[in-house]
Amino acid sequence: MQAEQLHLARHTAQLVSETDFAGWRDAARVLASGGVAPEDVAWMVDAGENRQSVGRTIPEASEDKSTLTVPRAFIARAEAVICHSDPARFALLYRLLWRLRDEPKLLEIASDPDIRRFEAMEKAVGRDMHKMRAFVRFRKIGEGEAERFVAWFEPSHYIIARNAPFFVRRFTGMRWTILTPHASATWDGEILAIGPGAAKADAPAEDATEALWQTYFENIFNPARLKVQAMQKEMPKKYWRNLPEASLIPDLIAGADKAAKEMIARMPTTPAPHHAKVKARHWPARGEEAPDDGAKARSIAALREAAKGCRRCPLWREATQTVFGEGPETASVIFVGEQPGDQEDIAGKPFVGPAGKVFDAILDDAEIDRLKTYVTNAVKHFKFEPRGKRRIHSKPNAGEVQACRWWLDKELSLIKPNLVVAMGATAAQALLGKAIPVTKMRGEVIEREDGLRVFITIHPSFILRIPDPADKEAERARFLKDIKAVKELMG
Ligand code: URA
Repeated sequence: MQAEQLHLARHTAQLVSETDFAGWRDAARVLASGGVAPEDVAWMVDAGENRQSVGRTIPEASEDKSTLTVPRAFIARAEAVICHSDPARFALLYRLLWRLRDEPKLLEIASDPDIRRFEAMEKAVGRDMHKMRAFVRFRKIGEGEAERFVAWFEPSHYIIARNAPFFVRRFTGMRWTILTPHASATWDGEILAIGPGAAKADAPAEDATEALWQTYFENIFNPARLKVQAMQKEMPKKYWRNLPEASLIPDLIAGADKAAKEMIARMPTTPAPHHAKVKARHWPARGEEAPDDGAKARSIAALREAAKGCRRCPLWREATQTVFGEGPETASVIFVGEQPGDQEDIAGKPFVGPAGKVFDAILDDAEIDRLKTYVTNAVKHFKFEPRGKRRIHSKPNAGEVQACRWWLDKELSLIKPNLVVAMGATAAQALLGKAIPVTKMRGEVIEREDGLRVFITIHPSFILRIPDPADKEAERARFLKDIKAVKELMG
């Protein structure tokens, strides 16, 4: 099929990998602005050896690239679709991009065959990612310093790089590798690396101790999001007997509420010693050059780098590191929390602790892909009171919130979202410059003077603090309703 296309096509666009979205986007821009019709392009993936050897390559752009405007929603969804294993996806995406110029409402025409295919591919990728999240099985290798966890997984699509940040968030404190036939992802505690694929034989043997896997399952089991029916749907009972962890499930379900409480009580910890090194790296000693204030930053990456040395308020002194926002610069929605918690402070990432797990579960239920959103906090350093070995969350004051608006405003101005979600009173205060009665105004959208729409809702940790299970479930349902409304407004 590709050979046939090559024969007829006047232009060849070569991508360096199956998920080379940047390569596809650049080639598509040049092709479209050069007036090259979709049927005249053959898309090829060529990791190296044969590059430039087949057909004609893409033409020089004849127009300014900036004349091609593409809806942001398309780009974000195309990033998912490019992970599909169908070799025709590159051509489909280019055809859609081509058509969108004359049919700006194309994405809304569900009956269009190209859109149907696009949506089906997007859903298939989403499902595959979900399955990977549910069924990756790590096995421990090595001891002490050499300890790491390795998993083998065979996804249907090229999802490893797209899905890896989820595993980083969930298993920040472990060093792990996920091997797949197409690519591998390795997290060493600080850096995520995407590497070549592997063979199943490269992963630890199936019979590596089941006791370890059971420990892992007990640890990943997140009582805050337990929903028995959903769990049974995803992993039907008939499969339980074949899984090493199955014998634990009844106990875990029975103990879920107690486990949730224990999880909250257990969370605060003293940071591991290597975090002192992280801190030393980012905060130069007194007398050294003043830290960059990010005023000139033109990207979120540059802004994040500048924020590592932030001293705009005293919170930097006790916190381990700045926890900056995370997510694509193209995100149409920004979720804003209050401040990083204990686990976020250690991981350097927002919403990875208990409140983050509630947040993730609600996003899943509302069918919002967190990876397509930008998640940040009003205050970027953890404020706490030490109690023995534990660090207890302490609410940031108005001065700290005001000082940190510097970063939040810059995040907003670089991302230019359609909607910002203020989760809780501190976020609302930071975004609107005044105190807001959150429980009264939740579900409402307030338009700021600059036109930015701010959706008001509660903070996910509010749900964690409700002791009565029925009240907790009711509050969770209200939060889900809010987040579903956010999905509608995201556009
Ligand atoms: N609470 C927040 O507001 N933000 C986080 O990142 C974690 C917990």
